[in-house]
Amino acid sequence: MKFTSTALLALGFLSATTGAIELNVDDPASIKKGAKIVAAGLRKWYTGDKLGDTPGNLPDPYYWWEAGAMFNAFVDYWYYTGDDTYNAITKQAMIHQIGDFSAFMPPNQTKTLGNDDQAFWGMAAMSAAENKFPDPEGNTPSWLTLAQAVFNTQAARWDMTACGGGLKWQIFTFNNGYNYKNTISNGCFFNIAARLAKYTGNTTYSDWAEKTFEWEMNIGLISPDYHFFDGSDDRLNCSKVSHIQWTYNAGVHMAGAAALWNMTQSDKWRNHLTNIINSTDIFFSKDQADVMFEVACERNGKCDVDQRSFKAYLCRWMGWTMQVAPWTRDMIMPKLKVSAAAAAAQCNAGEDQTTCGLRWWKNGQNDGSFGVGEQMSALEVMQNLLVDEVPGPVSMKTGGTSKSDPSAGGNSKNTPIVFDDITTGDKAGAGILTTIVLVGILGGAWWMVS
Ligand SMILES: *[C@@H]1O[C@H](CO)[C@@H](O)[C@H](O)[C@H]1NC(C)=O
Ligand SMILES: *[C@@H]1O[C@H](CO)[C@@H](O)[C@H](O)[C@H]1NC(C)=O
Ligand SMILES: *[C@@H]1O[C@H](CO)[C@@H](O)[C@H](O)[C@H]1NC(C)=O
Ligand SMILES: *[C@@H]1O[C@H](CO)[C@@H](O)[C@H](O)[C@H]1NC(C)=O
Ligand SMILES: *[C@@H]1O[C@H](CO)[C@@H](O)[C@H](O)[C@H]1NC(C)=O
Repeated sequence: MKFTSTALLALGFLSATTGAIELNVDDPASIKKGAKIVAAGLRKWYTGDKLGDTPGNLPDPYYWWEAGAMFNAFVDYWYYTGDDTYNAITKQAMIHQIGDFSAFMPPNQTKTLGNDDQAFWGMAAMSAAENKFPDPEGNTPSWLTLAQAVFNTQAARWDMTACGGGLKWQIFTFNNGYNYKNTISNGCFFNIAARLAKYTGNTTYSDWAEKTFEWEMNIGLISPDYHFFDGSDDRLNCSKVSHIQWTYNAGVHMAGAAALWNMTQSDKWRNHLTNIINSTDIFFSKDQADVMFEVACERNGKCDVDQRSFKAYLCRWMGWTMQVAPWTRDMIMPKLKVSAAAAAAQCNAGEDQTTCGLRWWKNGQNDGSFGVGEQMSALEVMQNLLVDEVPGPVSMKTGGTSKSDPSAGGNSKNTPIVFDDITTGDKAGAGILTTIVLVGILGGAWWMVS
């Protein structure tokens, strides 16, 4: 009797195609091979380099910020793997989106431009400076200068009118969420400030980072046991907090705390950092032990397009943290490895049989949720295993070459921006919409999107 390949397949003797991504999490070559496949899958979503399209933009339904986040992933991809396939589109996109005040404030994006949105591009520029990603030529501001400009525009927005300080979510009064002081906006500012301090040695930045972290603790955006809640309403003087928790909030703060520990080597920041890492426990599944998941929305299927990318940033900052605070490795690496193996095992769908889904904790079963966020998260969880392959982020004293301009973006406060066609509340859901209707969620389950 002759077995056809179909019969063998049915019996499970053969796999239909290459299927899944073979990943040996202990072998750099295998990780690079896997990351290369996933990076190619991510790049497929990008259209901004096509004729007639705008460099730096992702097509609908992706907001502008997520493109910035994606280019940060490509900057790190090159750093970790040495593969420069995406350097040209990355550089073109980042330069095209510089916009006003050289601070990633392109006029086309005012309707979706919150502090967090701007900061995701700023963090990409900061990573480019730290990784020595080739700087722009000519009169174009350097990566470091761009990050400094983002910092300066945001420091000028520190708002003392309520809550004793903090950044509002939105920059412009006409955008929904102007009264929300959210953790991701403040956390990204903290992240950039702390990394600028580490890179330049200038304590003005670390003073701001400390102040921001303390303010967040004081308001309760960071709980005494280091859980990061979504945000608070300044009309209530931040007396109430939305308790939803996202992976990316833990991630941006983890890296900032690691940078401040690296600079100070103080017990204070060692303690903050240890606790932040420990409290990410809630983002690791019990269904499949130690596999990262978005606790607020993966089980109930309610992760929106933005939220499907959040795990990428926790993975990104876990990797960064291991590089600058090497003693954190034993706390971080085991979970990252298990998560990467689980993520790779479900990158087995779509036409190419290597497309990744959202949920990593289903024992290799792909959940059919495809997109930039899903693909970027799988890329980040894999490439951040490669921390031993790289020297770690540079600073000015350790080989950094990106040009510094501490006054970049500094004229933004006094220069009015002219808007033509924007009306109040024009576009609901602009920026990173986590949750703005506070009342609705205050009574709800803290861990879940209702
Ligand atoms: C702004 O929009 C115009 C028209 O679509 C486009 O040509 C331009 O490249 C855009 N600029 C940026 C920075 O996105
Ligand atoms: C508003 O909150 C800040 C920070 O907690 C506090 O210092 C201030 O006293 C509060 N203001 C009012 C009017 O309650
Ligand atoms: C880590 O967090 C758990 C609760 O999630 C707590 O019981 C434990 O004491 C913490 N460990 C450290 C070292 O802080
Ligand atoms: C600080 O970070 C750098 C990488 O940016 C690393 O090489 C260095 O060892 C770190 N310092 C300490 C004390 O761990
Ligand atoms: C440090 O940074 C601040 C804020 O940007 C700037 O005003 C100051 O000139 C910087 N100091 C040095 C020595 O670069």
